[in-house]
This record gives sequence, structure tokens and C-alpha cells, in this order.
Amino acid sequence: MGLSLALVGCGAMGSALLKGWLTLSDSQTRFKAFWVIAPHRANVEPFLEDPRVQWVSSPQELPEDPDIIVFAVKPFIMEEILPLYKAFHSLFITVATGKSLAFYEKFLSPPHSLIRAMPNTPVTIHQGVIALLANATLTADQKRLCEKCFEGLGFCTWVKSDEDIDKITAISGSGPAYVFYLIESLAQAAESIGFDKETASNLALYTFWGASTYAHISNDPPSVLRQHVTSPKGTTAAALNVLETDGFYNLMEAAVKAAYNRARELGDERKSV
Ligand SMILES: NC(=O)c1ccc[n+]([C@@H]2O[C@H](COP(=O)([O-])OP(=O)(O)OC[C@H]3O[C@@H](n4cnc5c(N)ncnc54)[C@H](OP(=O)(O)O)[C@@H]3O)[C@@H](O)[C@H]2O)c1
Repeated sequence: MGLSLALVGCGAMGSALLKGWLTLSDSQTRFKAFWVIAPHRANVEPFLEDPRVQWVSSPQELPEDPDIIVFAVKPFIMEEILPLYKAFHSLFITVATGKSLAFYEKFLSPPHSLIRAMPNTPVTIHQGVIALLANATLTADQKRLCEKCFEGLGFCTWVKSDEDIDKITAISGSGPAYVFYLIESLAQAAESIGFDKETASNLALYTFWGASTYAHISNDPPSVLRQHVTSPKGTTAAALNVLETDGFYNLMEAAVKAAYNRARELGDERKSV
């Protein structure tokens, strides 16, 4: 039987998930209803063509307890909205950065079954990464329900702690932005040696697309594929030498640590519960 799902928040992440769910090949059998709870109808408008999607402005308007409620709002408004959902007997899934399981349990007494999920925006094209963390009350059936919700949206993995989720946030949660930034920087470099904007953008985009697809399907690790492109004293070696001399690995490590620290800052409440 199809799932009913309420999505709280339809911004960047909420709409990426919703588009992903609506376009799954088995979407019609997997999901029977989506209620999108959002302050403004405009964000939900593009999805309302699908008869399974309805916009509501508050949880009080939900006609029944959905099987699953997914929270996709900014972490700082969680405290304000969670009390509105206490009475629901649904499985709760939150994608908010930083907030620990203990934080939710503090606002959702008696204990609710809860999952912290960390997806990334490529779920919208079924190429995401989704990390999942269960609280103590989650049953095997509810775990299966959660997997039914996310299967097909990308690579799913269960993790063991809030800390794991914070670390994954810094890698795959924020990671698409790092990749977009790299694409932008390669395009800008192409412009700097004389290509027009459109050609530069295509060269960068197709290079990333081809190389990441190749790395994904190849039996060789990226380090070996890199060596295949790098002849001694050749053009690639000259470029990589600059990246190494200027500490590209260190830079990426520092960026990831900054994201991890920020995720921990956003979850500071965990210290007081
Ligand atoms: N973006 C990512 O790549 C990403 C990745 C992983 C996790 N996350 C997490 O996902 C959550 C959402 O992030 P986002 O990037 O999607 O932010 P966003 O684009 O700002 O979306 C948040 C949405 O929540 C809506 N909203 C505000 N108050 C609400 C309420 N009381 N009830 C229902 N909806 C409400 C906002 O509506 P209005 O705009 O109409 O005010 C907005 O559309 C965050 O906790 C973030 O940590 C994001």
C-alpha cells in the first residue's frame, strides 16, 4: 500500500526531495499522498499538477496522521514548530543540520520514533547521498518504512551517532556546493585563457560529468585514473604540480573541517539536553 507523507518546508532541500519522490519510476505505487506544509503556496505550486500533492499552511489542516512527517526547515525554527507536531503518531524524519536526536526528544515527549537524515540536493535526480540515524524507539518495521521512503533517491547508508551525521553533513550534505564551486572555477580558468563564457562553461561541465561518471563506473580508483591522464613532464603534471604546491588537499581538508565545526555549532543545544 502507498505511503502518505507530510513534508514540512518546501525550500531547496524540501523541493529536491519532493521532485525526487514524484519522479521515481514506482512513485505512483510507493506514495499515495503528499501534504506539503509551507507558509507560502508559491513554493509548492510547481508540484500541484500531481494530484497526490496538496498544499496546507499548518499541521492542523492535515486530514489524518501521515505515515511519515519529514521536517525540511531551517534548524533554528525547529524549536518553534516541533510542539505543533507532538500529537501525531507518524514516523518523524528530520533533515535539519546539527540538531541531535536528544534535541528532538526534548521537544517531542512522549518519545516519538525519529530519524535524522542527511540527504543532499542531487536526490532530485536520484543521484543523492542519504545518511540515516535512528533513535532508540525506532522499530524494524519503521526502519523499513524509512528505507521505502528514500530507496531510489541515491546511495543510502545508516550511521550510528549524531557525530557521524555531522561529519556526513560536511562531506556529502554540503559537498554538492564544493563540486559546483570547482566547476565554476574551472570554467573561470577557461575564460581566463580566452574562451567565451558559454564554451568555458560547457568545457568545465562536461569534463566534470565525464570524469565523475568514469570514476563511478571504473574498477580503478580515482588516483589510478588520474595517473592515466598524467604523463611525466606533460601538461597535466604541470597543472597538478601547481595544485599540490599550493596545498589543494590541505585546502579541501580545512573546508570540510569548517563545515563539520559549523554543523556542531548549529547543534549546540545537544550540550544542554
Ligand atoms: N540545502 C541543502 O543542500 C541541504 C542539505 C542537507 C540538509 N539541509 C537541511 O534542510 C533544511 C532546509 O534547508 P533548505 O536549504 O531547504 O532551506 P530553505 O531553502 O530556506 O527552505 C526552508 C523552507 O522552510 C519554509 N518554512 C519556514 N517556516 C516554516 C514553517 N513554520 N512550516 C513549514 N515550512 C516553513 C520556508 O518557507 P518560506 O521560504 O516561504 O519562508 C522555506 O521554503 C535545513 O535544516 C538544512 O540544514 C539542507
